[in-house]
Amino acid sequence: MNSFRLCASVLSADFRCLEDQVKQLEEAGVDEIHVDVMDGHFVPNLTMGPFIVSTLKRITHLPLDVHLMVENPDRMIPWYAEAGAHRLSVQVETCPHIHRTLQNIHSLGCEAGVVLNPGTPASWLEEVVSHADLILVMTVNPGFSGQSFLPEVLPKIAKVRDLVENSHSRAVIQVDGGIDQKTLPLVYAAGARYIVSATAIFKHPEGIKAGVNALRESVQ
Ligand code: DX5
Ligand code: ZN
Repeated sequence: MNSFRLCASVLSADFRCLEDQVKQLEEAGVDEIHVDVMDGHFVPNLTMGPFIVSTLKRITHLPLDVHLMVENPDRMIPWYAEAGAHRLSVQVETCPHIHRTLQNIHSLGCEAGVVLNPGTPASWLEEVVSHADLILVMTVNPGFSGQSFLPEVLPKIAKVRDLVENSHSRAVIQVDGGIDQKTLPLVYAAGARYIVSATAIFKHPEGIKAGVNALRESVQ
């Protein structure tokens, strides 16, 4: 049994057969489905609306981990909560009233995550870490799957871990971007226990199960 949770990002799934792909993820033993919502403004890509989340909800009982890469997330939070999200994570760069945003998410019955871009310092979390269920440290600049891991983010993961511990926060630490067999041990050593991956799972030459197994085996 691994001591991390694996969150498969369907951004790299084959949407011609989404249900089959999700069943393969379940059989391979992933822990959560990660849904990347991009608005074409905060990030240079446009992806999944609440309809995809409600469709996934009908396909699987796995928790739906929704990553909102959108400007003004407050107006969209109710849409995704209603669609069946288990957790809603917002980019701290988009939230001038972050406490209100997290309260809003909790009041709709979801867990609340706070996301930091690679260029955003850990100190931005200081006032809010005790109100979050999860801190997501981006290890690429968000917008696309298949980008290269940024090793310069590693010290920040350890800083976030210290911040969480020192503030007695319940928050778990997630990473997202460029995670594969080589980079997973590095983020794990720095303190991440929720691991998002798209390419390493969906583009593994031997298929989804082999991709999941390779990630599982990279940390003993
Ligand atoms: C990046 C997204 C990620 C992406 C990860 O903007 O937030 O969740 O799907 O893809 P890989 O694992 O290929 O870097
Ligand atoms: Zn993501």
